[in-house]
Amino acid sequence: MITRRRFLGQSALAASALLSGRSTAEQMAAHAMTQPGAQNGAPAAPNLDPNTLTRFVDPLPLPRVARPVDHRAAPGGRGERVPFYRVAMQAVRAKLHRDLPATTMWSYGGSVPGPQLETRSGEGQLIEWVNELPARHFLPIDYSLHGAERDKPEVRGVVHVHGGKTPPEGDGYPEDWYVPGQSRTYYYPNRQDPALLWYHDHTMGINRLNIYAGLLGLYVIRDSVEDALNLPGGKYEIPLVLMDRDVKPDGQLSYPVSADPEHPWVPEAFGAAHLVNGKLFPYLEVEQRKYRIRILNGANGRFYRLSLSPEIEINQIGSDQGLLPGPVTVKHLQLAPGERADVVIDFAGHSGAQVLLMSEALTLMQFRVASTAVSDRSALPATLRAVPRIAESSAVNTRRLTLDEQLNMVSESMGMLLNKTPWHMPVTEKPLLNTTEIWELVNLTDDVHPIHLHMVKFQILDRRRFDFFEYMTKGSLRYTGPAMAPEANELGWKDTARVNAKTVTRIIVPFAGYPGRYVWHCHILEHEDNEMMRPYEVAAT
Ligand code: C2O
Ligand code: CU
Ligand code: CU
Repeated sequence: MITRRRFLGQSALAASALLSGRSTAEQMAAHAMTQPGAQNGAPAAPNLDPNTLTRFVDPLPLPRVARPVDHRAAPGGRGERVPFYRVAMQAVRAKLHRDLPATTMWSYGGSVPGPQLETRSGEGQLIEWVNELPARHFLPIDYSLHGAERDKPEVRGVVHVHGGKTPPEGDGYPEDWYVPGQSRTYYYPNRQDPALLWYHDHTMGINRLNIYAGLLGLYVIRDSVEDALNLPGGKYEIPLVLMDRDVKPDGQLSYPVSADPEHPWVPEAFGAAHLVNGKLFPYLEVEQRKYRIRILNGANGRFYRLSLSPEIEINQIGSDQGLLPGPVTVKHLQLAPGERADVVIDFAGHSGAQVLLMSEALTLMQFRVASTAVSDRSALPATLRAVPRIAESSAVNTRRLTLDEQLNMVSESMGMLLNKTPWHMPVTEKPLLNTTEIWELVNLTDDVHPIHLHMVKFQILDRRRFDFFEYMTKGSLRYTGPAMAPEANELGWKDTARVNAKTVTRIIVPFAGYPGRYVWHCHILEHEDNEMMRPYEVAAT
């Protein structure tokens, strides 16, 4: 199972030069004690076992499409008028399941996921993100994390469009948060290929809590080239936002805490309740024809490995940054937090079938196939879009950057770092605008970390095992196995890549877009909130 990664790997601990007096066994015991509610010393009320609920009683909700308020002049001053949206962060009472009491969540625009933003390549838009959240947070803040100290307001928000090629002032820099009663208006030029992007909170130190609370939504870019492919569209295009949560029997969200009330941060938060578009075990009635299904893994830390039961072919046509060169048939569709997949599934010939969307042994939702046959004029073309491979020789610079696991001396818990450098240190990565670089991501940990770079799209070159001991003792990188090419469904443009344990993953990145300050980070939100994030700067030439 990929769903649970090891946190306190023996080898990682042994390799850490920062071991305090606390033994591995003690730390493991502390980790095992980790449970919701332990924070206040009160016995924790157990979380709901979702398997006690009746399945497939709620129809799959589809996010409503956002409507612009009006049109306004785009910044930059060429007189161009663009759609202007206003989206408010606000508390909401959401029904996760027919038989559960309403759950308090935080939303964009009153629903989780929030309203779906729809735009076209090259058509800019303005969005005013209004913070209308309540004055108090309802999830356990860890004040010992950088950026979440007690002198900071408890409730803060800032919005990032994940996968967006956005100028830095509108990218949602983690420290650009603002409090209830305030808003920011960001301009999105959308000068990029059609793709399924998503927007979510990015607030320093509490990002994991804000997103867990429900602050996420989809952002779709289309264009005429994609339209001409005649893929299933309209009501035959279905977005699926996957995320896991723990809920109490009274329906309220439960976020895990460590055994230490001063440092409630946990290295990973996995829930037993798997929400699809905000519902537990929803169903969707489908016709006997092709559907385009666009999937986001919006979970804090869970990796999904999707399949259909009974088995129906999953044809993947796109990844994070848009269409693949051609469809790829996948048996198991693996998605790390932050990754997206665009797939076509043909339900023709499955009259009356009840098809389950599964992740390993977990059931996520049900498709109910109609019994009558219909004609289907949509297509699944063999060629989708050219994705020329970037030549390694075009890179002007290669950076070797490590993913590290280290014991945090303050909290005595394991923390993760990028290149052994905490967030507040000066910027070290300053690629030049319009140049291409290779980043060698050297994963020294026992976990898979999905690494995401803001503003850019990149390609995965390869993955390769190396001699860990030699690296730790001599600092030299000696490969111990062959370079493995990316999976067939990773041959498109990416913005988030799985960097496997004890493996070097090489990505090639054209830094095209805008100069300025951005971030790169692990998309396991617990890691990101605890120093597994670094600024980087695109330097103007
Ligand atoms: Cu999903 Cu920094 O982003
Ligand atoms: Cu992003
Ligand atoms: Cu990570």
